[in-house]
Amino acid sequence: MREKLLAYLVCPGCGQNLSLSVTVAQAEEILEGSLTCAGCHRSVSISRGIPRFASLDEVDSDKQATAEGFGWQWTHFVQEDKRYSEQFLGWIKPVRPEFFVDKVVLEGGCGKGRHTQLAANWGAKDIIGIDLSIAVETAYAATRQLPNVHIIQADIYSLPFPRCFDYAFSVGVLHHLPNPKRGFESLASKVKPGGHISAWVYGAENNEWITRWVNPVRNKLTSRMDRHVLLQLSKIPAGTIYLATKLIYGPLNRSKSGKSLARHLFYNEYFKNVAPFGWREHHTIVFDHLVAPTAFYLSREEFEQWWRDIGADEVTITWHNENSWCGFGRIPEK
Ligand SMILES: C[S@@+](CC[C@H](N)C(=O)[O-])C[C@H]1O[C@@H](n2cnc3c(N)ncnc32)[C@H](O)[C@@H]1O
Ligand SMILES: [Zn+2]
Repeated sequence: MREKLLAYLVCPGCGQNLSLSVTVAQAEEILEGSLTCAGCHRSVSISRGIPRFASLDEVDSDKQATAEGFGWQWTHFVQEDKRYSEQFLGWIKPVRPEFFVDKVVLEGGCGKGRHTQLAANWGAKDIIGIDLSIAVETAYAATRQLPNVHIIQADIYSLPFPRCFDYAFSVGVLHHLPNPKRGFESLASKVKPGGHISAWVYGAENNEWITRWVNPVRNKLTSRMDRHVLLQLSKIPAGTIYLATKLIYGPLNRSKSGKSLARHLFYNEYFKNVAPFGWREHHTIVFDHLVAPTAFYLSREEFEQWWRDIGADEVTITWHNENSWCGFGRIPEK
């Protein structure tokens, strides 16, 4: 971490300021040390450059299992892809790159840091990526050279910040929490009045086949499996989807005459959009779906209620790839 991160931090327990003590530093980068609360004297460690506000040994078992699965995933699938920017913009619609300029941004559940990097390169004043899992190690390594990025290991339910952000976003995280709405409210509570928030979640609509057929397999089998075995096993559905997108969905959707036929294909809107990605990304997506022990599929109605309950205005809800929901809204001044 860099010392300037301190200006954004408070004790998640009592809200008081934290004081920094450094044991190992390398130029501007503080590699080892601690942060201690002036109020309740709670102390958190900084290790390998990352402040550790949460540790997997201390969180509830359902959160722990999710974070372990994703931690493994994001320390294995560390690839980068030039298509991430377009994909990210799809998830945070209607936000555009210029929206990030000079904003102080919070990312809830940064995983390997692919969106953290994009936000930083699009001109965010500072972006703080938090994640509960060891994915923070990958995110930190990927962003260490960017002076406006800060990575923290923390639980989205217990964020060590005051209400200081111009913009907060969370992509593909909230539906994996034991209580998705509470995670959303926690994120929104850190956005300044007049600031904005984006969230992307799985939709209930059009995903009945997943909730009926995939969820039981995921709950009972794949999320509990040895990760190395799952890595190999997930190549079967990933390979099937990869071949279908490369040989059928991609070509048909690209051809003028094939488009009208493609529209009738199963899950076309989604497979059309993942078709340009390579094998590794297809494998990541399938592994991601099978490793998570918790996954909620939210109806439009439930998702809209979240936005009403935080009192957001100027809310835009978008049906994404006909299988998920993107929300964007403003936290009112009062
Ligand atoms: C599907 S991944 C998405 C990561 C990233 N947003 C992306 O799109 O690349 C979900 C992430 O949420 C994180 N996560 C799960 N529960 C969390 C919690 N309680 N607090 C913070 N992060 C959490 C996981 O560790 C994982 O990195
Ligand atoms: Zn405190």
